[in-house]
Amino acid sequence: MSYNKALNNPIFKIIAQASKELNIDSYVIGGFVRDFILERDFKKDIDVVAVGSGIDLALKVSELLPNKPKVQVFKNYGTAMLRYKEIDIEFVGARKESYTQDSRNPVVENGSLEDDQNRRDFTINALAFSLNEKDYGTLVDPFNGLEDIKNKIIKTPLNPDITYSDDPLRMMRAIRFATQLKFEIESESLSAIERNKERIKIISGERIVDELNKILSTDKPSIGFLHLYQTGLLEIILPELTALNNVEEVEGHTHKNNFYHTLEVVDNICPNTEDVWLRWAALLHDIGKAPTKRFSPKQGWTFHGHEFLGGKMAKKIFERLHMPLNHKMKFVQKMVMMSSRPIVLAQDIVTDSAVRRLVFDAGEDVDDLMTLCEADITTKNPSKFKKYHNNFNIVRKKIVEVEERDHVRQFQPPISGEEIMALFGLKPSREIGMLKEAVKEAILEGDIPNEYQAAYDFVIAKAKKMGLKVTK
Ligand code: CTP
Repeated sequence: MSYNKALNNPIFKIIAQASKELNIDSYVIGGFVRDFILERDFKKDIDVVAVGSGIDLALKVSELLPNKPKVQVFKNYGTAMLRYKEIDIEFVGARKESYTQDSRNPVVENGSLEDDQNRRDFTINALAFSLNEKDYGTLVDPFNGLEDIKNKIIKTPLNPDITYSDDPLRMMRAIRFATQLKFEIESESLSAIERNKERIKIISGERIVDELNKILSTDKPSIGFLHLYQTGLLEIILPELTALNNVEEVEGHTHKNNFYHTLEVVDNICPNTEDVWLRWAALLHDIGKAPTKRFSPKQGWTFHGHEFLGGKMAKKIFERLHMPLNHKMKFVQKMVMMSSRPIVLAQDIVTDSAVRRLVFDAGEDVDDLMTLCEADITTKNPSKFKKYHNNFNIVRKKIVEVEERDHVRQFQPPISGEEIMALFGLKPSREIGMLKEAVKEAILEGDIPNEYQAAYDFVIAKAKKMGLKVTK
């Protein structure tokens, strides 16, 4: 069968022409082929393998293109890249390759196409389309990758112990592809991941997080996290999460299994957001529960202060995995720290002042916090489920009402500290701090609206009680 249709972008004819002029064979390989067969969106990255020099091929292709795009050459790896109409094309020479035990540095030798396919991660990623005149558009599939796509199987071309040991990141890639594509990981491969799990320790945090982010961006990340858990990888990467996987019983009291609960929360959030950081917040929202768990005969199981501790732990995780320590980390930390706030509201009667305080503390992130908290409702009791959601709907409505009236989302005091100082002829002092705080409290309590005149009158009255005199 010919796959000419896959190759209707003019770039492929040009690569074919360049290969012909250099008298070498070349193939499109990897994700582009896989995604075409799976009818996924057209990939913006194309991998081309040359049976010869990938760098020479890239230079030749550039020469044949009208705009002669710049070729980036990575001599050490024997690869080269160029960009054509927003498509990144990577050229590599076919190689035999094995990795040393202790590092990621490959020992590379030139090889045939089949050698190259052999050393790739999965049979579904080892498929190639020919770009050669004699069989242009033919699928080259020595490991039955096409069958594996049909049967939805993730499988390595070589013995999985070798493939995973060569590049341990592939263990995470297996799980990531299984989650993205809803494929099964072949059982041989799964047990090889278990056996080789310790090798993940030689992989950088950045590369691990890349895969975690891809898992978190799917519509059901729990598939990936369950695989990570069952293979033992999660215990190594995120032991804070696996520590949540238990249910203890004392005097007939149990608590819920917070690991499985967490995975449900992450899944619940997915359809509602494109933002991977809110998913991180969901993933980490209960991590403080393992170290704060206590049992007392009076209260049963408690997790006092788990939100605060969880926020601190989240920062440590970001540091350990070399994740950004910028506003994204702060956002996740804030979500974890505030994650129980709306729940308390949802269980009680929802007052305006409680909502105003919530908006004040969460600021611009209040909508994300609500999304997280709605996802956090995993009770299997239908009447509780309904009650919590109803209450959250009330909270959402009140957030809009309260915000329209009082604008506390980006709170600016309606009367400034300077003006209060001028009114009473005071320098910065405890009294001024108290007055400012009292104005803020009165607004949040709903005693006065967030307006200048109301705040002015309030300050005058309050100051009088404190024994201060207007001097202006
Ligand atoms: N590859 C590999 N081992 C890795 C990474 C990549 O064998 N650790 C090979 C696979 O053949 C893969 C190709 O290199 O198809 C390109 O890798 P990459 O661009 O990372 O992944 P894609 O398969 O293109 O898929 P995605 O873009 O979804 O990551």
